[in-house]
Amino acid sequence: MKVKSFLGGFDKNFCYLIWCNETKEAAIIDPSVKISQIIEVIESNNLKLRKIILTHTHHDHIQYLQDFIYYYPLIKIIGHPQPLKEMGEAYQGVDHHENISLGKTMLTTIHTPGHYSDSICIWNMKTKCLFTGDTMFVGRTGRTISANSNIDHLYHSVYSRLLTLPEDTLVYPGHHYGFSRDITIKDNKSLSNFFQCNSLDEFKAVMSSFEKSRRG
Ligand SMILES: [Fe+2]
Repeated sequence: MKVKSFLGGFDKNFCYLIWCNETKEAAIIDPSVKISQIIEVIESNNLKLRKIILTHTHHDHIQYLQDFIYYYPLIKIIGHPQPLKEMGEAYQGVDHHENISLGKTMLTTIHTPGHYSDSICIWNMKTKCLFTGDTMFVGRTGRTISANSNIDHLYHSVYSRLLTLPEDTLVYPGHHYGFSRDITIKDNKSLSNFFQCNSLDEFKAVMSSFEKSRRG
C-alpha cells in the first residue's frame, strides 16, 4: 500500500491518498483538503479512486466531500455506522474491526469514540499504518470539547485500542499539530505524557492541564 499525505484545509488538516500498488485502486481518508492537487496525483499515477473513508464527521474533515462526489459520482463513502451528519445514499457504515478492501490491500476499522462519538481509525496491519483522525496526533490526543465528546471513551479508545497495536505502527494523524507529520506508536508513548497514564484519573489530569495551558 502507498500513502501520500496532503496538508491544508481548515486548520493544518491532513488528507491522505492511499492505494494498492498492484491494482491501483485508491481511497481518500478525510476529504479535508482542496481537490485540485489531489486529482493531479490520482491522474499522474493512473489511480482508480473508489472510496472515501471518513475518520469522523467534524466539519473540517468532510469540507470537500461534495467536490469529490461531483468528480467521482460512483464513489463510496465509508465511515461510522451512525454518522452525526446526514451522509446520503452512497454512505456505508462500518462496524468495529470490519475489513475494507482496496484492491489487494485490506484495511481494518477500529472504532475510537471520545474526541467525537463517530470517530474511527483505519489500520493496515501489513504495512503497519494507522490513520487516526482526531483521536491521536503527534504528541497528544484530540480534545474532548465537542457536544459529542467523551473523555472516558477517549481514554478507553486510546489506551485499549490504539496503544495496544504493534509499537512500530506509524500513526498518520488528522492534523499537523506536532513536530513531525507522522510518528510511531512507540515514539508517541515515550515522548508524550498523554500516552503515559496509568489510570483514567491521570489521563483526565493531563487533559485538564493541557486545556488550562491553552487558555493561559
Ligand atoms: Fe475533529
